[in-house]
Amino acid sequence: MKPARTASPGAPKPHFATYGKMALNPKIVRVRSSRLADLDMENTVFGEVFSDHMFSMVYQNGRWGSPEIVPYGPVPLSPASIALNYAQAVFEGMKAYRGADGTLRLFRPYRNAARLRASCERLCIPPIGEQVFVDALKALIAVDADWVPALPGCALYIRPVVFSAEDHIEVRPSRRYRFIVVTAPVGRYFTGGGGLSLKVEEYYTRSPAEGGLGASKAAANYAGTILSSEGARREGFDQVLWLDGRERRYVEEAGLMNVFFKIGGRTVTPPIGDSILPGVTRDSLITLLRDRGVPVEEQRIAIDEVLAAARAGTLEEMFASATAAVVAPIGNLPWRGEAIAPREAAPGPLTGALYEELTGIQFGRIADPHGWTEIVETG
Ligand code: COI
Repeated sequence: MKPARTASPGAPKPHFATYGKMALNPKIVRVRSSRLADLDMENTVFGEVFSDHMFSMVYQNGRWGSPEIVPYGPVPLSPASIALNYAQAVFEGMKAYRGADGTLRLFRPYRNAARLRASCERLCIPPIGEQVFVDALKALIAVDADWVPALPGCALYIRPVVFSAEDHIEVRPSRRYRFIVVTAPVGRYFTGGGGLSLKVEEYYTRSPAEGGLGASKAAANYAGTILSSEGARREGFDQVLWLDGRERRYVEEAGLMNVFFKIGGRTVTPPIGDSILPGVTRDSLITLLRDRGVPVEEQRIAIDEVLAAARAGTLEEMFASATAAVVAPIGNLPWRGEAIAPREAAPGPLTGALYEELTGIQFGRIADPHGWTEIVETG
């Protein structure tokens, strides 16, 4: 019999006494000279240019403390760090958006904060309080506000990461951790039109079936994908389509993104479980679809069902969702010698409408009926 899944195995419980209801108030050390003038936003590759400053905070003696915003640069890391040796590291991915009137917004940051907490607990890392997390982001973005791009479709990508920073190679929880936030001005994650072309991965898996790390934003999950996605790229694909770890039959994710299929008027996305990341974009799209009256089913979908729909002409659209890639149309998914392509040319009408609506809310172009955005005060 399969043992019941227990609650958190008891990750260390940190103290937040210092920041309970007070402003985080990090110490700020500014750069002598900004690198912003060198930024060529039109030609910036995703994630290669970082803004002037980063947020840093350390966990030691049983508490998180000493928040600071300092010039972006290397952080001390012992060769014996558990993060380096055993991947005790978790992260988040978010963006800050500049509206037409210059207002800066974050999108559902408390959701990322909650997911980071869950990831920390899964990796036995003392979690960061949700308010501390959001305050850290807001403080950093206020300092680097000029780095949030004004070009259409561009945003400031935010990468919070928490990792073990103790000097020992025993496999056990650390006594010292570091929480860093860096930011990067970014444009579109995928360039080129016609929709993504995905290789169905039938050997490697992103995550074992149950009890693994798949639902956490653990650095190790991403390391495990590089071999397959690099192989897929060499074969001319944009990414891989992951199948489940047990039967290699059920669709799980598309590369580093959640995935949706529109079949015969209904929309299907694989359900969140131990092996699928609870994407903030995924959750938001489900809400927006239901707002439009489009039925959404969170249920397992086998690759042969997708093929059957394509053969029958009922596979209308396919798209992937993530913070970095937003809503990315999928144009082609060959499987065992047969093309799986949607009936509608990518991006299909629903994919395009969801992209417009989601980014409209994020950039403040349209109303935000669910109260998802948080303004970053810069003054
Ligand atoms: C994101 O979409 O923000 C992700 O975390 C994917 C990333 C690894 C580029």
